[in-house]
Amino acid sequence: MGISDEIKQKLDVVEIVGEYIKLAKAGRNYKANCPFHGEKTPSFMVSPERQIWHCFGCGEGGDIFKFVMMMEGIEFGDALRILAKRAGVILKRQDPQIQSQKKRIYEINELAAKFFAWQLEKSPAGQKAKKYLLDRGMEEQTIKDWRIGWAADDWHALCGFLVGRGYKDSEIFQAGLSVESGRNTFHDRFRGRIIFPIRDIQGQTIAFGGRIFGIEKSDEMAKYLNSPQTELYDKSRVLFGLDKSKMEIRAKDRCVIVEGYMDLIMSYQAGVKNVAASSGTALTENHLNIIGRYTKNLAMAFDSDSAGAAATKRSVDMALRGDFNVRVIPMKEKDPADIVKKDPADWLQIVESKSQSVMEFYFADAFSKFDGSTLDGQREIKNSILPMIKAIASNTEQSHWLADLASRLRVSESDLLADMKKIKDDPVSRQNFQIAAPSSAKGSEPQSRQDGLEERFLGLCLNNPGFLRNAPEVSGDCFQNKALANIFGQLQNLAQDQKEDLINHLRKNLSPELKIQVDYLSLKIEQQPAEEEMEIISEIESCVKELKIIKLKRSLVVLSAQIKEAQGSSDKSEISGLLEKFSEFSMRLSKLLGEAGR
Ligand code: CTP
Ligand code: MN
Repeated sequence: MGISDEIKQKLDVVEIVGEYIKLAKAGRNYKANCPFHGEKTPSFMVSPERQIWHCFGCGEGGDIFKFVMMMEGIEFGDALRILAKRAGVILKRQDPQIQSQKKRIYEINELAAKFFAWQLEKSPAGQKAKKYLLDRGMEEQTIKDWRIGWAADDWHALCGFLVGRGYKDSEIFQAGLSVESGRNTFHDRFRGRIIFPIRDIQGQTIAFGGRIFGIEKSDEMAKYLNSPQTELYDKSRVLFGLDKSKMEIRAKDRCVIVEGYMDLIMSYQAGVKNVAASSGTALTENHLNIIGRYTKNLAMAFDSDSAGAAATKRSVDMALRGDFNVRVIPMKEKDPADIVKKDPADWLQIVESKSQSVMEFYFADAFSKFDGSTLDGQREIKNSILPMIKAIASNTEQSHWLADLASRLRVSESDLLADMKKIKDDPVSRQNFQIAAPSSAKGSEPQSRQDGLEERFLGLCLNNPGFLRNAPEVSGDCFQNKALANIFGQLQNLAQDQKEDLINHLRKNLSPELKIQVDYLSLKIEQQPAEEEMEIISEIESCVKELKIIKLKRSLVVLSAQIKEAQGSSDKSEISGLLEKFSEFSMRLSKLLGEAGR
């Protein structure tokens, strides 16, 4: 047994998947909204019997390894390592699958986090940095929990330490912790900075953010410096804090999004734990997709400055396009960290009860930027708000905001309505605000009756292979779809002798695409309530019959065309041969039609 099979035996797909998304029992299986594409009704299925998952919306599917790979955006070797650890299976060094060089980069990041945290505690400069954090309202325990550290103002402190531990310059560089200062010479990237370790969703340190402290900041020095893109760290996919906050986000069914490291940590400390921050970048669609695994409800809590307002607007638009419910938390201080410092309870209360609807936010934003009492200002305000109002699906809500805008601009509602009607449905308008379910993709509904029948027939056979043992006359040539015919052929062979665990044996011999087909078809059958065995058999039989009928009808059409052609060439023997075939097929057809009760 291979190492991956051993791991699979020890773990349960329902448990692993259930850690990432909320599963609901559905008969023998579990259902959920698919984490890999946006959807409102669940078409993602997990089968505990088969230990597989499949989405009928987007067509993705596979085992626990595939799930973790897709969910975490990692390679097989890394998924293997994560799941081996969970299963208590020890991977041997010589396992080629785990000789991923990423492993050493993880180690370097972990060691660096330890080193920085140690510097904060033990060095005099670190103590000053720590005092600064305490003065900003951060508690001792918070500093420990988040492993906040200190990078000394030294060119070789970290590099020296890591080289001493046996890591190569090139590896430290790949981890993003050094900068190449000359040919084959490197120095520390983070110097004189308070260090925030950035962790992936599993809690492994993969990068760092450093806030300048203690040294004279010149203009070209950024307040915050972050690790560069590395093999482990893709800033467009990592949300700071999510490793700690994900369960709280799911439990509260809402995610508060903040801008900075300090904001996130202080919010968490104050008790608003359902929080995430994009680290060192604007919020991206990838970020939203990741949050979407935990909740569809967002509360934006960006800085109160103009950059923050712009970020809010961009993020709100993007989130609405992604089908999130969005609210905006108004910021009375500069940012959440400042509010928490003044009064933690205040932050809890603001999040709980002060958030605005998106429309309220757009109104406030437009009226703060432009003067509604001048004609120019009115035009700007209309330009920014009317498309939003036009995009509202509900008529009553739409007229509410239209009336509100009219009164605030002191213009008539009917003029405003006329203006709104003139707006073309473009960029920020309706279509953008309602991203529908994905256009039916790979695993969507079958296109024709024939396809549907073939899929249903094969699905039923997969779930009831006993039928094939007693029905040798059924043959695979009633399939038009080559892939399905191939699966059917193999299933039929196996069904003759292999009795136990037939599907797993079948899956072993199939290509990855066919494997997905098999999972898809058999899960699809299981989506429906279980039937009596007799009913299943009779349904299989009627599928076979119908497929035969379709095939015969098609042959008859072909034959009659051939007969017509032969009559033209007046080849007597050919004509009589064709006619004979035609009458034989017709008889078979009418017999089948009679049996089928048509
Ligand atoms: N940021 C960054 N690079 C910069 C500036 C900001 O990556 N040069 C990111 C950081 O994640 C930072 C967030 O943007 O936490 C917000 O920046 P800012 O508002 O300037 O800092 P604060 O979080 O308010 O930091 P502090 O309260 O420590 O001053
Ligand atoms: Mn701040």
